[in-house]
Amino acid sequence: MDFQKIIAVATRRGIFQPAFDAYGGLAGFIDYGPVGVKMRRRILETWRKHYVIDAGCLELDGALIGPEALFQASGHLGEFDDALVDCNDCNKQFRADHLIEGGEEMSRKDLGMAISKITCPSCGSSFSEMTSFNLMFSTNVGAGKGLPGYLRPETAQSIFLAFPWLLRQNRGKLPFAAAQVGRSFRNEISPRQGPLRMREFTQMEVEHFFLPSNEPTLPDDLRNITITLLDASEKETTSTIGEAFDGGIISSSLVACHLARAQRFLTTIGVSNEKLRFRQHGSNEMAHYSSDCWDGEINTSLGWVEVVGVAHRGDYDLSAHGKGSSREFRVAVPGTEKETEIWVPDIGKIGREFKGDAKIILEAIKDTELKPGVTVDVNGTKVELNSDYMVQKTERRSEMVYANVVEPSFGLDRILYCLLESSWKGDGEREWISLPQETSPYDLLVAPLMTKDGLDDKAHEIMKSAIDNGVDAYYDEAGSIGRRYARADEIGIFFSMTVDHQTLEDGTVTLRERDSKDQSRLSIKDALSKVRR
Ligand code: GLY
Repeated sequence: MDFQKIIAVATRRGIFQPAFDAYGGLAGFIDYGPVGVKMRRRILETWRKHYVIDAGCLELDGALIGPEALFQASGHLGEFDDALVDCNDCNKQFRADHLIEGGEEMSRKDLGMAISKITCPSCGSSFSEMTSFNLMFSTNVGAGKGLPGYLRPETAQSIFLAFPWLLRQNRGKLPFAAAQVGRSFRNEISPRQGPLRMREFTQMEVEHFFLPSNEPTLPDDLRNITITLLDASEKETTSTIGEAFDGGIISSSLVACHLARAQRFLTTIGVSNEKLRFRQHGSNEMAHYSSDCWDGEINTSLGWVEVVGVAHRGDYDLSAHGKGSSREFRVAVPGTEKETEIWVPDIGKIGREFKGDAKIILEAIKDTELKPGVTVDVNGTKVELNSDYMVQKTERRSEMVYANVVEPSFGLDRILYCLLESSWKGDGEREWISLPQETSPYDLLVAPLMTKDGLDDKAHEIMKSAIDNGVDAYYDEAGSIGRRYARADEIGIFFSMTVDHQTLEDGTVTLRERDSKDQSRLSIKDALSKVRR
C-alpha cells in the first residue's frame, strides 16, 4: 500500500480529504470526514485511557492564541524557524534542509555551505542566501492594530503557563503530569504529504513535572516492555526498556518510562513492533528547549515517519516563564525550610522622609533581596537606603527550584495515516483495514439481507439495541451483501451482522469477523455481547 493509494481511499471512504478544495485547496490543511472523525476519536480515547485514566495525568484545554510575551519567553519567536532559500530565477521557495540529503541533521553553517553548491530543482538556477523563516502564524488581537498574538505552535506552552495553577490543583505536590489534546499551528514552508506535514494539526501531549533531585524511577510494570532503540551514534538495539536504561542507552529514568509508555500505546492501537523504532536526536537536530529527545518512528512507504517525540526539556520552559513573567514558577524543595533573617522596608519611615518619591523607592525595591546600603534611582538622583529605613524580620524559607519536565508529544494526524498504511491488507479478492477493535472506526456493520419482508425493520431494531448497549454500529442496506462487506472491510469495521429470514424465525443472525471472514450463527444477544468492547 503506498501513499497515493491511501490518499485515494481516504477520500473515497470519508476518512479525510484536502481542505478548501472548492477554492483550489490550501496546502497543509485537511478535513476529516465521518469515518476519519471516528478513527481519530478511537485513537484519542485509547490515548486518554493510557495517559489520563491509567497514568493519572491532569487534563487541560488551553487557549489557541497566545500573546507575544509568551512566545518571546518560550524561545519560539527567536528560535522556532526553518532555513529558507529562494530560487534567483523562478522565485520558488524551498526548505533548505529538504534539498540536501541528511539536511535535517546539519548545523545551519554546514547547510548553508551545502546549499551554495546546488541549484534549483525546478529550473536549475542558483539560490539566494539562506534566511530564517519563523514558523508561527501571527495575528492581531483586538480592534485596529490590536496586540500581536500567535497561534500556538505546540500545545505544551499552555501547560507550562498553567504550571503554578495545576500544581495547586495537585495540592502542591510533585511529581505530577498534565495532558492536553488540541490543535497546533505551524506555517510550514512547503507542506506536502497530506496528513504527514500539516500547518494545522492535532497534538496529544503530556508534560511530566518532577523535582530535579527526585526524578521518578522506572516502574516495574514498564521494565519488561521490549523496544527498538537507535541511539545518537546510530547503534540499533532491541531489548527491554529495563535493560536499555540499566545499560545507559537511555540516561533518564523518566525518559525511559515515557518511551515504554509510548511503545505500549502505539502497539495497542495497532502499530506492529517490527515497524516501530525510537531514534535519538543528534545535537544539531534537537529543538531549542530539549537536552535529549527520542522520536518514535513508524516505517512506511515514504520511509520512517515520526509520530511521537519523547523530550527531556529540563527546566527550560518553567525558568523562561519564571523570568519572563511576573509569576512564581519555582517550587519549594521539601525538607529545606529554615529560619532566615531578612530585611523589609520601613514603609512609614520611607513615606515620612521621601514623601512623593516614596512610591518610586518602594516600587524599585519590590521583589528584591533588601540589604542596608542599597541604592535606588529617584528621578536621576541616587538615594541610598541604610538600615534606618528597614526592619529585620525572621522568616521561614525553603530552597526554591524550577521543576524539570519530560514530554511525550504525539501527532494524531500522522498516527492515523501510519495506521491506515500499516494495517492495509489485500489478498487479491478484497482489501481491508486490519486494525484492532479498539481503533476500528465501527464495531459492527448491521446489514439486512434485503429491504423487504420486515428484514430491514428487524435490522433497525437490532441497530437500536446495539447502540443502547454501547456498540458503535453502522447500518447499510445498499447493494449486494458482498458489496456491503467489501465497503465495511475497506473502512475497517470489525464485525458484520447479517439479518436474514431465519432471524425472523429463530432470532439468530450471522456474525462475520473482518480479518478471518469467519462466520458464525448466534443469537442476537450473544452476537451483541461478542461485539461489545
Ligand atoms: N511539544 C513538542 C513539539 O511540539 O514538537
